[in-house]
Amino acid sequence: MNILILGGGGREHALAWAIRQNPKCDRLIVAPGNAGIANVAECADLNILSRAEVLEFAQENAIDFVVIGPEAPLAAGVSDALRDAGFLVFGPSQAAAQLEASKAFTKEICDACGAPTAAWARFTDAASARGYVSAQGAPIVVKADGLAAGKGVTVAETVDQAHEAIDAIFDGEFGEMSVVIEEFMAGEEASFFILCDGTDCLPVGTAQDHKRVGDGDTGPNTGGMGAYSPAPILTDALQEQVMARIVRPTMAEMAARGMPFQGVLYAGLMIDGGEAKLVEYNVRFGDPECQVLMMRLGGQVLDLLLACAEERLADMAVNWADDHALTVVMAAQGYPGAYEKGSIILGLNTLPESSFAMTFHAGTASRDGHIIATGGRVLACTGRGATLAEAHARAYAQVDAIDWPGGFCRRDIGWRAL
Ligand code: AMP
Ligand code: GLY
Repeated sequence: MNILILGGGGREHALAWAIRQNPKCDRLIVAPGNAGIANVAECADLNILSRAEVLEFAQENAIDFVVIGPEAPLAAGVSDALRDAGFLVFGPSQAAAQLEASKAFTKEICDACGAPTAAWARFTDAASARGYVSAQGAPIVVKADGLAAGKGVTVAETVDQAHEAIDAIFDGEFGEMSVVIEEFMAGEEASFFILCDGTDCLPVGTAQDHKRVGDGDTGPNTGGMGAYSPAPILTDALQEQVMARIVRPTMAEMAARGMPFQGVLYAGLMIDGGEAKLVEYNVRFGDPECQVLMMRLGGQVLDLLLACAEERLADMAVNWADDHALTVVMAAQGYPGAYEKGSIILGLNTLPESSFAMTFHAGTASRDGHIIATGGRVLACTGRGATLAEAHARAYAQVDAIDWPGGFCRRDIGWRAL
């Protein structure tokens, strides 16, 4: 079959790499792709936020299945345009994508279905939000209500910090008009990924990531500097608890509202004392969590994503190996602040490429026979092994073979579990 993947990051490289291994995949196109993706698929230059452009491209190229990687095209309704035209699509509708696009929407769904999450309140003006924070005290969490690329959240340790965050939101830093204030939840965070076909759900893995830029979880937040799977804290019993109390009730509530969720639900969880609460939902695979999930799932992922889009997850099971995967993100110096583009990365052609070691490209391009960095997060060096220590060693062996003075990475990915 002819498959189109939308996106051009490490997540999409990992998806393309896994899907390519499945014999059902004939032609694979990734739009826009990147220099690493070009090794496993054709890359197409396409505005993936334009419903019309994506639809026309899918029609012209006789695409059988579209996999949507990032949240932006989902929030823009690209999946609806494709589905309305009869295409098979992996990725939720615009309405269902509100589970990521709107924090307030998710909170209302949780309240309606009784899913445990932090107590919350929503405000549309700074003065009432400030007053509420003063009354509640700190620590407290301030969130811009909308897609802010993970940057719209402040975990405030003092009331003053919370007030500043509220002012920044209403000063238009994110172009937002409302703010959600949440109770601070203590505990350990983990991510849980569940395929949902509108009716049935199938867990496809757990992961933990490292959001801070520096070793020892210091410095500013990023999109994620590394991840590993499985997350030991998400035991089978806890996964079943999350399915029963959070995921299935959410899916039932979405279906009851006429917006069944079809795609991957990424549940960000806070775990404390054997109980899990929902921090947030995303409606796509995490990046770099996807890299470790794909490394563990391999080619079967195409069958799983197809079953999800064809609403036959009830008949599916995941073939699990007793393995671990770990990925280390290499980012351009300066990230998550301002960084330079265009530095040359050497050593990539010396790296092993197997089901145990893959360097996924996140922000790269080819220029004059060299691979250059074009993004903040640039590579995701990913290892798999029988133990997390083995996966860790394989990932860092790739890091150490890469010659890129313009880049850096954390040296402690996986520390909590190792
Ligand atoms: P979000 O974008 O909602 O995932 O928030 C980003 C990060 O902020 C989360 O991964 C948590 O580390 C933290 N966070 C968000 N909400 C809370 C909360 N209610 N209590 C504690 N930490 C939170
Ligand atoms: N790594 C976090 C995310 O993809 O949102």
